[in-house]
Amino acid sequence: MAMHLGSLLLGLVLVIGFSLQSSEAATDPPVVCDFLNRSSFETGFVFGAASASYQYEGAAFEDGRGPSIWDNFTHQYPEKIADGTNGDVAINQYHHYKEDLAIAKNIGLDAYRFSISWSRLLPNGTLSGGVNQAGIKYYNKLINETIRQGLKPFATIFHWDLPQALEEEFGGLLSHQIV
Ligand SMILES: *[C@@H]1O[C@H](CO)[C@@H](O)[C@H](O)[C@H]1NC(C)=O
Ligand SMILES: *[C@@H]1O[C@H](CO)[C@@H](O)[C@H](O)[C@H]1NC(C)=O
Ligand SMILES: *[C@@H]1O[C@H](CO)[C@@H](O)[C@H](O)[C@H]1NC(C)=O
Ligand SMILES: *[C@@H]1O[C@H](CO)[C@@H](O)[C@H](O)[C@H]1NC(C)=O
Repeated sequence: MAMHLGSLLLGLVLVIGFSLQSSEAATDPPVVCDFLNRSSFETGFVFGAASASYQYEGAAFEDGRGPSIWDNFTHQYPEKIADGTNGDVAINQYHHYKEDLAIAKNIGLDAYRFSISWSRLLPNGTLSGGVNQAGIKYYNKLINETIRQGLKPFATIFHWDLPQALEEEFGGLLSHQIV
């Protein structure tokens, strides 16, 4: 898995380079870099892009999602964010995942790695605090669409957006009980 993730990250760097050059006209032949390109990597190497839920999803207070520590932090301390913004809407992947995945396909990716917002699935942090079915449905739709586009889905289980409820109950990651 660690190697896979490394591959994905390297892939992202490469794909950014490629897409910048090839974005001028959709009909141009693919740009191939003569010192580093897909054939420089062994067969089976996975080229992909990765995202993190708080920075991508938006819909921060929609469909039953609970607050995460990032919602609280960005709302309480906007001055600590360079431009004072927050992830309430972000790039709105929650509503635009189909367009996003079509773009990922169009730039030639093999895979898409997303992260799961803990507080979208478990708004109060724990199973006993209730499961948000709308959240489960969203990730199933996202995964289905990824596969439909011919991309391989990878999930990051946790990308630091801890439910605020667990911060308040346990003091967040300072508590051994969080793990
Ligand atoms: C792709 O890169 C390799 C070096 O890794 C190079 O040998 C090859 O010529 C390149 N292919 C193209 C089509 O430029
Ligand atoms: C976190 O944010 C929520 C929603 O804005 C607010 O109700 C709550 O009081 C905040 N919690 C803390 C500990 O600041
Ligand atoms: C989740 O927490 C909220 C606010 O503390 C509470 O109103 C709600 O009842 C909780 N949900 C469940 C399923 O326990
Ligand atoms: C995802 O695809 C599976 C398999 O085709 C299907 O059973 C399921 O209903 C789909 N889920 C959603 C939310 O679209």
